[in-house]
Amino acid sequence: MSIIFDPRDPSVRTDPYPIYRRLRETDPIHQSHFGYWILSRYADVDAVLRAPGASSEFYRDRTWANRRGGPDSPLVQSVRKWMLMLDGPAHRRIRGAISKVFTRASVERLRPRIAAETARLLDAAGEGKTDLIHSLALPLPVTVTCELLGLPGSDRDQCRRWTEQISRVIDPSITAEDAVEMNAAEVEFREYVADHLKERRSAPRDDILSLLLHAEVDGGQLTEEEIIANVQFLFVAGHETTVNLIGNGLLALLRHPDQLRMLRDNPEIITDSIDEITRYDPPVQIVSRLLTEDVPLTDVTLPAGAKVMLLFGAAGRDPERYPDPDRLDLTRTGVKTLAFSGGPHYCIGAALGKLETSMMLTELLRRYSTIELTGDDLVWRPNVSFRGLQELPLQLVR
Ligand code: HEM
Repeated sequence: MSIIFDPRDPSVRTDPYPIYRRLRETDPIHQSHFGYWILSRYADVDAVLRAPGASSEFYRDRTWANRRGGPDSPLVQSVRKWMLMLDGPAHRRIRGAISKVFTRASVERLRPRIAAETARLLDAAGEGKTDLIHSLALPLPVTVTCELLGLPGSDRDQCRRWTEQISRVIDPSITAEDAVEMNAAEVEFREYVADHLKERRSAPRDDILSLLLHAEVDGGQLTEEEIIANVQFLFVAGHETTVNLIGNGLLALLRHPDQLRMLRDNPEIITDSIDEITRYDPPVQIVSRLLTEDVPLTDVTLPAGAKVMLLFGAAGRDPERYPDPDRLDLTRTGVKTLAFSGGPHYCIGAALGKLETSMMLTELLRRYSTIELTGDDLVWRPNVSFRGLQELPLQLVR
């Protein structure tokens, strides 16, 4: 029987791994009923991420743009400047400018702030019942992104609301109503960032916003519109991804008590553990590409013009790449997770997202002798590109 794969199917949301396995085993280069090729093997996903003919410029597709308010809408005009949505020299230019200011050193400088914010959130959570997602995972990344850019922490809730609206732009299942809300959020967020840039122009500070105004790239600088769009994108890129990495990570550990114990006894393995966790249950499940040239894969060549969905969750469980892939094994060696993508769009914030997650998980294990799940009916968020829990109800005992 042929497979029908629909990422919007609620059973895929609850547990995508059985269908991923069937796809990999029976139809690894699957032509879906909605016009996309679906790739589920590690080697094929990796090959497309690195292929010169794999474009990320979805905004050029009329249907895509129209569903988001049209090519001239504020949202599409912003998104077409996001580095995520650009190819070739245009991509390298924006990425080059952002990489000059968003460096390893800038991430390291955030370490004490992340530690302080983690401690503050855990102090507030205290003991007893808590929901990891709302009380701990959701507030952390937006506070850290504000800190990274030099925006006031007191604006974090507002920034989070705008970010949550705009993030849905990459969701293939958005409605016309969503598009209206997302465009309204984009306009408000744009004005907010523009006001801060104006301030930095007249009185520069030691923060990334000020540095971005002057970052030299290809002998020029980014335009104000490009800076605003990519500031919005940094919020989007760092938000749901990190929330879901913290949530999926703790859930995976709770479902593998031996691995949780190992991490509790050996907190120094946290960094490698995060790679294994992202292989096991990645926060970003799907990225898509438009092929502008033929792309040869293991057994077939995908034709120019094809639209492709890459299933990161399926690639991470490919037995050709990882022996016994359904087992979470924090001592696994040679993990080269695709969860942060690969090729030219490899995640710039991977070190930051891993640092936030490792500090939160380490501190949870250090503070509480017992962490228990208090409900079995877990509800997953309805976004098809991201995989994350609506809530993770816990009982915390010191
Ligand atoms: C912690 C979990 C995170 C995960 C799983 C993750 C995942 C990803 C993935 C899959 C992509 C590439 C998408 C594609 O190839 O089309 C990406 C790109 C990107 N991410 Fe992350 N990310 C995380 C955290 C962050 C953070 C904290 C930031 C910054 C605040 C960030 C900034 C970026 C940027 C700027 C890009 C675009 C790179 C480009 O297009 O050249 N990410 N991320």
